[in-house]
Amino acid sequence: MKLPPDLGVVQMGFETGAVRPQLPPMHRRLPSALMFTVLFAALAWGFSPTSQAAETSSTSTNHYRTGTATRDGIGKFYFGREIAKFMTYHGAPWLERTERQEEERSDLLMKALKFQPGEAVADIGAGSGYYSRLIARAVGTNGVVYGTDIQQEMLDILTNKAAQAGIHNIRPVLGTESDPKLAANSVDTILIVDVYHEMEFPFEMMAGLAASLKPGGRLVLVEYRGEDRAVPIKELHKMTEEQMKKELAPHPLKFDETLRMLPWQHVMIFRKNGQTK
Ligand SMILES: C[S@@+](CC[C@H](N)C(=O)[O-])C[C@H]1O[C@@H](n2cnc3c(N)ncnc32)[C@H](O)[C@@H]1O
Repeated sequence: MKLPPDLGVVQMGFETGAVRPQLPPMHRRLPSALMFTVLFAALAWGFSPTSQAAETSSTSTNHYRTGTATRDGIGKFYFGREIAKFMTYHGAPWLERTERQEEERSDLLMKALKFQPGEAVADIGAGSGYYSRLIARAVGTNGVVYGTDIQQEMLDILTNKAAQAGIHNIRPVLGTESDPKLAANSVDTILIVDVYHEMEFPFEMMAGLAASLKPGGRLVLVEYRGEDRAVPIKELHKMTEEQMKKELAPHPLKFDETLRMLPWQHVMIFRKNGQTK
């Protein structure tokens, strides 16, 4: 896979085979020996990772704090977590890699979520549309998938790939960093795969998404497991269940359950207050 130029530097040091070569450059974790060397050097210079990433001041909204950005983050903190840099459209080939089904077991995810024919589903941060296409087939021609993203380039890729696959029930939606641009009470299910940790305005996004759900609708968050050191993904690109619950607590969403059948990710399901659909 040709690597995006802005991520190429991050790729250095990953060719040792210590982590699986299929991993995206921005998500890969440093091999432990290299990490130790970097940490040792940092300490020798009188720095610690904690002080580098320290939160220093709050922003005007009060939801966020700002501080020095670490390599993979944007220097903005929410509930003590540094928000990660988002994946640019140059990473689209990685989202479509052939090994993805085996690595993520998207078949198991689709089976567990039991999408019904006729459902209205929003795939938030849809990227190239890998999951949008799977959902589109599951909900059938009477159903609809809103594939949203903040990059028009991603939506162009999504549209082309859907057309090539003969799928016509995906509607691309260009959102902003703080607004999903979905109508109120319009969707049955929201799926967010590997996106939440890189939302620049998680509070505003979750507020908008909760509003777009029908009463009783479900919000499904799929993230790499932050609790699991064995998952070979950089820390800022993972989330723990505890952190997710903290961050969703301000919203009218009730935690329902966590599914743990995927190799590297957990699947957290929340429901909008109100009558079950
Ligand atoms: C790592 S990719 C995941 C793509 C897709 N969910 C998948 O699993 O194939 C993250 C995507 O989220 C998008 N994104 C980041 N912040 C977003 C936001 N606030 N609203 C919608 N999309 C966002 C990025 O533009 C990028 O396309």
